[in-house]
Amino acid sequence: MYLNRAIASQARTIINTRARLSALRSQLSSPILPPSPPTSSFISPHLNITRKMTSSSIPTTQNAVIIETTGGPEVLQFRTDQPVPSPKEGEILVKNHIAGLNFIDTYFRTGLYPSPKPEILGREAAGTIVALGSGVTNPYGFKVGDRVMWMHNSGYAQYTAVPAKTAIKIPDGVKDEDLVASFLSGLTVLTLVKETYAVQKGDVVLVHAAAGGAGILMVQILKSLGAVVIGTAGGAEKVALVKSLGADHVIDYRSEEGKDWVKIVKEITNGRGVDVVYDSVGKDTWEGSLEAVKRKGFVAWFGNASGPVPPLPIQRLSPKCIKIARPMLNGYLVEREEYEYWAGQLLELLQSGKLKVKINKIFPLAEVQQAHKDLEGRKTTGKTLLKP
Ligand SMILES: NC(=O)c1ccc[n+]([C@@H]2O[C@H](COP(=O)([O-])OP(=O)(O)OC[C@H]3O[C@@H](n4cnc5c(N)ncnc54)[C@H](OP(=O)(O)O)[C@@H]3O)[C@@H](O)[C@H]2O)c1
Repeated sequence: MYLNRAIASQARTIINTRARLSALRSQLSSPILPPSPPTSSFISPHLNITRKMTSSSIPTTQNAVIIETTGGPEVLQFRTDQPVPSPKEGEILVKNHIAGLNFIDTYFRTGLYPSPKPEILGREAAGTIVALGSGVTNPYGFKVGDRVMWMHNSGYAQYTAVPAKTAIKIPDGVKDEDLVASFLSGLTVLTLVKETYAVQKGDVVLVHAAAGGAGILMVQILKSLGAVVIGTAGGAEKVALVKSLGADHVIDYRSEEGKDWVKIVKEITNGRGVDVVYDSVGKDTWEGSLEAVKRKGFVAWFGNASGPVPPLPIQRLSPKCIKIARPMLNGYLVEREEYEYWAGQLLELLQSGKLKVKINKIFPLAEVQQAHKDLEGRKTTGKTLLKP
């Protein structure tokens, strides 16, 4: 009886917390807010009555990185005593081999994107299925032992319970590291260049932060679509990397000459401006992006590496009849068919060798603070990974 009341009370707390978060989200006008993280990774195992482990070798505690409060990299706590979650109905429990570090992780850490705390950060990982929640086997044919790539929450951990819908089987011959280095970033790029604005052969495209995790994939995919690519990147080493990927022009926007990158873009395009700008830098570049785009052009803001784009008076778009978008990957990948479609496109590019990944560095999970410092300090090129 007491146990039932305790469970009911904790369930009400979770529901209330979710309702408050939902209300908070709807008050905020920004379209960038991610969906509610699932509760499975935060619920203590005794609450999860659908726990159905299939292997006795699964430990009860694990290494994971949690944050209890928002702040700088110092709030990331590597712990060895975190409960291994139980997969609920429709979930799979994955033993993670390698996890991805994404800029969005810093937004949840700093509180730019609100989320419940304590929280295990991390949006993606590759690993092996070690247990299935009930009802999971039939829909997608998963079984214990399958190697999968998933994209959800709580990836900075040895084990993560994720909705089966968010996982795909990794084909033989595709390395875990290569897929994590290109999964969330690559799916973002594919949806941006094919759905947000469908890039056509001959389009002139401006890509900011072109040497970053998403940037290096975007440059390659744009070139494969026949676009003329102008990239921006900070520093000679990054510029050389972006050039080596086939970009037609690369501007070091942190150099004295490159600071006026809008003028350089205008010169390259004979005063016309570019057809589309993909801007993930945000605060420092948003105005320049509006200037650098052509009349009737398109600007897609998809990130806040330097801070968010401030509220934009819609009249700013009138003189040049500019179109804008503020997309997010989670908005494109909702249905299972969408996961399969876009993951299929990415795997095709990887398996055919048309898309090359670049791994910046693989950090042990215990060194996650340094990994965040490097990413925010603009010290990385390509994708940074974490080894749980
Ligand atoms: N909308 C979505 O669904 C979605 C999905 C994935 C990623 N994103 C966004 O895409 C962007 C790239 O993500 P990523 O994980 O691949 O990161 P990343 O590009 O590897 O790292 C961010 C890069 O941004 C540049 N940057 C410019 N100003 C900066 C500043 N003030 N502080 C830090 N970096 C700055 C740096 O490159 P330089 O040194 O060359 O300037 C830095 O390397 C992020 O904005 C992220 O939020 C959005």
